[in-house]
Amino acid sequence: MNATSGLRPPPVFGGHDDHNGEQHRLLGLAFDPLTKGRLAQTGIGPGWRCLEVGAGDGGVAAWLARRVAPTGGVLATDIRPVRRPAVAGLEFLRHDIVRDPLPEAEFDLVHARLVLRLLPDRLAVLDRLVRALKPGGVLQVDEFDATDAPALRVPDPAAHRLYRTFMDTKARIMNGEDVDTAWGRKAAAAMRRSGLTGISSLRRSELWSADSPGLQLLSHHTRHLREIFVRAGMTDRQLAEVRELLAHPGFRARSYAIYSVQGRRPRERR
Ligand SMILES: C[S@@+](CC[C@H](N)C(=O)[O-])C[C@H]1O[C@@H](n2cnc3c(N)ncnc32)[C@H](O)[C@@H]1O
Repeated sequence: MNATSGLRPPPVFGGHDDHNGEQHRLLGLAFDPLTKGRLAQTGIGPGWRCLEVGAGDGGVAAWLARRVAPTGGVLATDIRPVRRPAVAGLEFLRHDIVRDPLPEAEFDLVHARLVLRLLPDRLAVLDRLVRALKPGGVLQVDEFDATDAPALRVPDPAAHRLYRTFMDTKARIMNGEDVDTAWGRKAAAAMRRSGLTGISSLRRSELWSADSPGLQLLSHHTRHLREIFVRAGMTDRQLAEVRELLAHPGFRARSYAIYSVQGRRPRERR
């Protein structure tokens, strides 16, 4: 497999600049328990060969590598260079899942979290991931439906409007980048159409409060994506007020829903 030349710039919300380490840390805090719990349900164990796509800081890939040791291995790919935990059996590759070569019928398990939603060619990429599975192998896709995450408790009506402005602006920025913010709820049907069987889908949403990594991630956006929000019409003052609101002990919001969807590549008939 060849490494990408990295010609395509990564999407804004997919690991944009030097601050992406904090983004990956918060994603891990928020979603690793769900992701790892679901991966464990596949029966993953020694000897398995795994592919982690858009691996970010490699936290999930390192966890997989420990599960499949000493006889298995994990290939962790990302379009950007990532922090590389030194774990036996874990290999990193700079790789664009849209266009770089991908071996076929190679992996017992393929996992991608919050990657396909970023890619306009997500259905074609999904087909590639399915072909990368060995017959009988499992694909797990963990993705947001970010379309219904209202504030539920706010200090005053102005704060309610501010939060809506911020979330609407974020959605507008993402839509402008061809991100599918509702992809999570479409993933199961797309995986079925791509030929996977035994589809299992778990949806989870929670109540966000100031100590939730999900809200802290939104707060992080106000700083590391400041220029993009300002270009989209928000002022620095509004962004500061958003940060204040997100840190308010009384603030509550419905989180994005995350879907964790699994499907199996059918075994070939003799
Ligand atoms: C939102 S982050 C999620 C990271 C990690 N999967 C997680 O959940 O913590 C999306 C990741 O996908 C990577 N990415 C974006 N486009 C990609 C592409 N075309 N090929 C491979 N990786 C890509 C980004 O660099 C980033 O690390």
